[in-house]
Amino acid sequence: MGVREFQISDRNIVIHELDDLYDSTTGRVLTGSWLWNSAFVLAEWMATQCKLFDFDFRDKTVMELGAGAGLPGLMAALLGASHVVLTDVEPLLPGLLKNVNTNGLGDRVEVRELVWGSDDSDMGPLAHILKIISRKDSKIWAASEIRPWTIECLTEFTSQGFEIKESPVRYDEPHEEYDHAIFDSFSIFHLRQRDDERNF
Ligand SMILES: C[S@@+](CC[C@H](N)C(=O)[O-])C[C@H]1O[C@@H](n2cnc3c(N)ncnc32)[C@H](O)[C@@H]1O
Repeated sequence: MGVREFQISDRNIVIHELDDLYDSTTGRVLTGSWLWNSAFVLAEWMATQCKLFDFDFRDKTVMELGAGAGLPGLMAALLGASHVVLTDVEPLLPGLLKNVNTNGLGDRVEVRELVWGSDDSDMGPLAHILKIISRKDSKIWAASEIRPWTIECLTEFTSQGFEIKESPVRYDEPHEEYDHAIFDSFSIFHLRQRDDERNF
């Protein structure tokens, strides 16, 4: 753990990771106390490839769910989002706030508790929260390593009324922080509520 510095598409971000934090009731480690590869993949994709989808962060409001150390949300602010809300379980909020302040983004980025369910592997409550907070024109992105159970997670979202498109992740430039091989196993998933499922 410690401090990690990233340069992603000419933006510099400093991320403090925490020594493993544990949930006081379950005793389980809080997985958001360190940065996962998916956070880096998503932040890099947002900075370099999201424009291929005609998306511009300027003046947008962005919410990151399960933010952990907050790298993608902080990147959104650096790319011009006017308001970013980083959310996670309560014990991770001080670490998120530290990362906001370290990067001088306190005027645009706030930190809030948002818990969608008690079981990390249950995508149902997460899909439900996404339905509540997203609007017709919202863009919803998730970066995920493709694992045997990824299809089960996606199926939960489709059964709750989301359409999903997949963008494979590819990088041509070497990056000093990351081995490029990791990108080959990741995809970005674009989620959108089907019109007939929209309740809000
Ligand atoms: C695998 S970690 C990823 C953290 C960060 N997004 C990253 O990629 O570095 C999963 C994150 O989701 C959060 N999380 C898991 N289940 C959650 C729930 N039910 N409600 C809110 N946050 C949750 C965890 O606290 C953790 O920060």
